[in-house]
Amino acid sequence: MDTTLDLDSLKQHEISGAITISAGQGGLPRLAITTPAGTGEIYLHGAHVTGFQKTGEPPLLWMSAASQFAADKPIRGGVPVCFPWFGARPDAPAHGYARLTEWHLAATSASADGRVSVRLRLPEKAGGPAAIPGKVEYLVTMGDTLTMELHVTNTAEKPLAFEECLHSYFTVGDIATVAVRGLKGLTYSDRAGGNALKVESAKAIHFHAETDRLYLDAPQTVIIEDGKLKRVIRVEKAGSDSTVVWNPWVAKSKAMPDFGDEEYHQMVCVESGNIGQNQVTLAPGAASTLKVVLSSQMG
Ligand code: BG6
Repeated sequence: MDTTLDLDSLKQHEISGAITISAGQGGLPRLAITTPAGTGEIYLHGAHVTGFQKTGEPPLLWMSAASQFAADKPIRGGVPVCFPWFGARPDAPAHGYARLTEWHLAATSASADGRVSVRLRLPEKAGGPAAIPGKVEYLVTMGDTLTMELHVTNTAEKPLAFEECLHSYFTVGDIATVAVRGLKGLTYSDRAGGNALKVESAKAIHFHAETDRLYLDAPQTVIIEDGKLKRVIRVEKAGSDSTVVWNPWVAKSKAMPDFGDEEYHQMVCVESGNIGQNQVTLAPGAASTLKVVLSSQMG
């Protein structure tokens, strides 16, 4: 890719005082966003939101200092878009090809109240042989909240089935002081424990070991209480029946080349999507929207 040429054509989407487009880490095209409420950042690689921070608050999204920024690697942190599958697949990239694809920047806008929106489109040929026959658009809106909407339309003449997940990494002060609420009573697949099906009995989830849980039939809002930062984060969603809660803890952190050994103390993932038995199946011509709204309040 000729980054210079690419950047020249992208600059038409800049908005004075709101969106600047430049080469980011690894030379990958990056949108830097400013709103009256704070700042944000999006890479076209993976349609990846890598930053969102309200003025006067710590960053909402966590980024690994060890993240790679390369066309053939996913970014570690922020909000990876997992699509059209979630998890590992033999002979195919984990969490799908969308997070390894440079998305097309379709449009940008700023509203009268200062909110900034960015519309991205997954190139039709992305994914090679694994490509699905669908139109995939991602609308990210930043303001006082961070709103992400993944729109998929089945453009084929037969049903289209896929998994999807907005894999949000959150900054926390200390994982030992974090409580995740809103999942009590739900069935989950314990991905850190042989995928055993269990029922969540805790009102609040606390973290003492590797935690990797896929909650099924879980459309509920999830709350992250951060005792150290004294912040409450709300993960509200629509069109999402699965929630994943993940912290890799010690051994898994060490095994990941793009994740610092001690970084697990400062992050937690609460991911919103449609996974496994909750996968989406669209009739020909039908469309779906996965919408996640992230908001936060200091205590
Ligand atoms: C989580 C999964 O969503 O993503 C975990 O539940 C996985 O099992 C994690 O380890 C990170 O995946 P990756 O492919 O980004 O290393």
